[in-house]
Amino acid sequence: MVRNVAGLLAELEEADFYLLSGVEQGMRFSEWVQREKLPKFSGLTEEEVDYRLERCLKRGLIEKKTIQYEGYTLQFEGYDALALRAFVERETITEFGSPLGVGKESDVYEVRSYKPFALKYHREGYTNFREVHKERDYASANEHVSWMYTARKAAEREHAILESLYPDVSVPRPIDQNRHAIVMEKMDGVELSRTRLEDEQVLGVLDLVLKEVARAHEVGYVHADMSEYNLFVDEAGVTIFDWPQAVPTDHENADEFLRRDLENVLGYFRRKYPRRVPGEVDADVLADEIAANSFDSVATLTE
Ligand SMILES: Nc1ncnc2c1ncn2[C@@H]1O[C@H](COP(=O)(O)OP(=O)(O)OP(=O)(O)O)[C@@H](O)[C@H]1O
Ligand SMILES: [Mg+2]
Repeated sequence: MVRNVAGLLAELEEADFYLLSGVEQGMRFSEWVQREKLPKFSGLTEEEVDYRLERCLKRGLIEKKTIQYEGYTLQFEGYDALALRAFVERETITEFGSPLGVGKESDVYEVRSYKPFALKYHREGYTNFREVHKERDYASANEHVSWMYTARKAAEREHAILESLYPDVSVPRPIDQNRHAIVMEKMDGVELSRTRLEDEQVLGVLDLVLKEVARAHEVGYVHADMSEYNLFVDEAGVTIFDWPQAVPTDHENADEFLRRDLENVLGYFRRKYPRRVPGEVDADVLADEIAANSFDSVATLTE
């Protein structure tokens, strides 16, 4: 697990960030950045570099190795600190809060500005990075920055997709993106998986979900990871989140992903509320209707 660096931000100084971003820049060329190159990358003097390296090492923001040469590399914590600092500088964020969700592919925290936001650090490539890290001959491997690259690409993708979907589709409003992190509006409500709907609400909520899926398709995207865990529900309606893996509707597998998304959603409703979802509601039929922009509603159907 990656530690929450929010608490560290207050004790880090301007020059610590020069050092961190110096290491980040050096990592464009190799995973382990040579000590000698750091003054150039960071714009700090030799003595400052030594002092800042010590501070950042102590806080677990970077890692050091001394095989073949003295080198430094960013830890996810260091990368988080750089992203967080960028958001604070831009005044996207003024306060940090508690975790909203810690998953295998991301860490999500509540943050604030004039209203509550959610900060999502992407962790794609993290598990992989750990495994690779353990076994690798440090000097030879060259796929090093893949964790940074993969996580940053995922954040860029998710942010861009949210920008295309919002506000036509009910998704969290995107606010900002930096490196592997995005800031979006905090959703109200809870995951669909954690709700127990009244019998007479079931078809109505399913209908709301299908309408958002249909609208996203009209805008040009298939979510491709739809489940009861990526849907929030509250009195105002439903919100679909977690979009980095979404594909454009002209993607060669878009129809297949759409069908699978619908099967997931319908399967969930059928399992949890047997007898509440009419038999004629069928994933294949819905997928065809949504793909043809002719989906209307299932709310009027009755058992
Ligand atoms: N905008 C938001 N507002 C409030 N809570 C959020 C928001 N975005 C995410 N969360 C919380 O964080 C959790 C993880 O978010 P998300 O599903 O986007 O990440 P993930 O790691 O990709 O998830 P998965 O487990 O599907 O891989 C969500 O289940 C939700 O509880
Ligand atoms: Mg999720």
